[in-house]
Amino acid sequence: MVFRTLCAYGAIALSNAAAYAKVDSTLSELRATQGRLVQQEKHASLGQLVAGVAHEINTPLGVAFTMATHLQVERDEIAQAFNANQLKRLAMEQFLDKLNEGLRILTGNLERAADLIRSFKQVSADRSSEALRTVDLGAYAGDVLKSLDPMIRQRRVAVTIDGPPGLAITTLPGLLAQVVSNLVQNAIVHGFAGVERPEILIAIGRAGSDRVAIAITDNGNGMPPDVQAKAFDPFFTTKRDSGGTGLGLHIVHNLVTGPLQGTIDLASVPGHGTRFLITLPVDVAGR
Ligand SMILES: Nc1ncnc2c1ncn2[C@@H]1O[C@H](COP(=O)(O)OP(=O)(O)O)[C@@H](O)[C@H]1O
Ligand SMILES: [Mg+2]
Repeated sequence: MVFRTLCAYGAIALSNAAAYAKVDSTLSELRATQGRLVQQEKHASLGQLVAGVAHEINTPLGVAFTMATHLQVERDEIAQAFNANQLKRLAMEQFLDKLNEGLRILTGNLERAADLIRSFKQVSADRSSEALRTVDLGAYAGDVLKSLDPMIRQRRVAVTIDGPPGLAITTLPGLLAQVVSNLVQNAIVHGFAGVERPEILIAIGRAGSDRVAIAITDNGNGMPPDVQAKAFDPFFTTKRDSGGTGLGLHIVHNLVTGPLQGTIDLASVPGHGTRFLITLPVDVAGR
């Protein structure tokens, strides 16, 4: 519609200088509007994220607060009995058990709140401070895997890196490590329940003259379409009960499409596995 209007304006402009000036101002208005919309969109998504964080942290803090209040009541009762010289051995034993369980719940929930804050810091941190470095992609992926070795061995996952040696890229290696590590951990945590021979393949290669591709594929349970559709959304997790924050893929997406200047695509077939395909520039600085 806007295009048509502009075309119409364009025709008149050929013969009418006044109309030309109008087209020009319409175009700059359009550009200004677009800029405002982009800015609004950024603010809206940041606002959503902040609201999400507040909501998520509220739950563990609420549980911790309730438990602390409860322990205070128990403690006052025991103190009363003690002061009146009426404290029975059994009551003391029961109190110690309750205290133990209460502290376990307190610690667990405070840890969860701290985890959420750590993840949120990763989402929002200013990344411009990391220095560019040139790394051998295959060797670097191997280094990243070493840091995950305990997890990989514990779950008996066969991880293979496949690609040409000496494929060098200039990038922000710390961020790339975070991306690869997150995707490998996700495969192990989410993909392999009941899978007999869990495998992860990290395939790297050139993609055209100035890009590389990294495909991280698992032979796990895959994701149904509704999970795939939301996988990159902040706070979307199918493992909330066992400590998932749902920020992992959101962070991965932000890092790849932001500072790493790449693309990321997800393909998953339930019952067969999941593949994340990433492309990156050979030289971030040179783009
Ligand atoms: N390799 C995978 N295989 C199957 N499901 C996955 C895989 N990676 C991610 N998922 C799904 O995507 C969801 C979001 O992942 P993520 O953002 O990392 O959050 P979290 O790991 O905290 O659940 C997971 O809860 C899981 O359902
Ligand atoms: Mg995750």
